[in-house]
Amino acid sequence: MTKVLVATVKPFAPAAVENIKKIIEAAGYEFLLLEKYADQSDFIKAVEDVDALIIRSDKATREVIEAAKNLKIIVRAGAGYDNIDLDAATEKGIVAMNTPGQNSNAVAELTLGMMVCLARNCYNGTSGTELKGKKLGIHAYGNVGRFVGEIAKGFGMYVYAFDPFIEKNDIKKDGVKALDSAEELYSTCQYISLHIPANDKTKKSINYQLLSKMPKGATLVNTARKEVICEESLKMIFKDRDDFKYISDIAPDCKDEIVEKFNGRFFFTPKKMGAQTSEANINAGIASAQQIVNYLEKGDKTFQVN
Ligand code: 3PG
Repeated sequence: MTKVLVATVKPFAPAAVENIKKIIEAAGYEFLLLEKYADQSDFIKAVEDVDALIIRSDKATREVIEAAKNLKIIVRAGAGYDNIDLDAATEKGIVAMNTPGQNSNAVAELTLGMMVCLARNCYNGTSGTELKGKKLGIHAYGNVGRFVGEIAKGFGMYVYAFDPFIEKNDIKKDGVKALDSAEELYSTCQYISLHIPANDKTKKSINYQLLSKMPKGATLVNTARKEVICEESLKMIFKDRDDFKYISDIAPDCKDEIVEKFNGRFFFTPKKMGAQTSEANINAGIASAQQIVNYLEKGDKTFQVN
């Protein structure tokens, strides 16, 4: 019998698991669940005889892929697939997919929520600032970036975006000003919201040179990946500019230093929380299960990333 494993260190909402199970069983497959596993070796053991795999930020390394003797498809229930060793998957003829757009609204709502939180000094009773009238720069205008822009307009923010892979007209028709370069975006906007993927080109690309261009009252918001930030630059800009603030969905590696020296100028989630809503889990979970069935039954490779 075809076996489908859902392996999630950070579990989906129970309703999402129920929905995935229903789709998998309706297709006549066996549904397996590994949640909150303590060690990567538990993951490696669990994949041994599965045909399909649904993961979140779980690390589908070469070791995992090579241990999975029957594996045909991995679906990352979410957008970013930097946690899958795509070369290893391709070498073994395994299809890797993501589920673009399914959790984007959750990430966008968290982005604006964290911006309000820090602008109001994390609700500590002191006087804060408002988002209205401020300029927001969206760095990469994909699914999340687009939702962030839409919500930010509701707050009365002026919204700008830079994305070299999207036609400027497609940005403009959403009522968002399309800029020509990252440099222009950073020098225009007090708030920058990052939505770039983590890859060889983008890792550590958010550096001092860019951040120092931001106008007074600068806040950098990162719901993308911590790896895209150059942490040496981050520490330098915190030190050189007492107006600079940083919001991140998951703390940087240099968290302790920032916490010690720059009180009141940061907000970090304890775990990656962007996609952690029941709705996002259900959407991404259903899409993942359906994509597996469509691939195994009909060879449908929509959303393949390798
Ligand atoms: C994504 O890439 O979709 C988000 O970062 C969500 O990741 P998560 O499923 O691990 O919460």
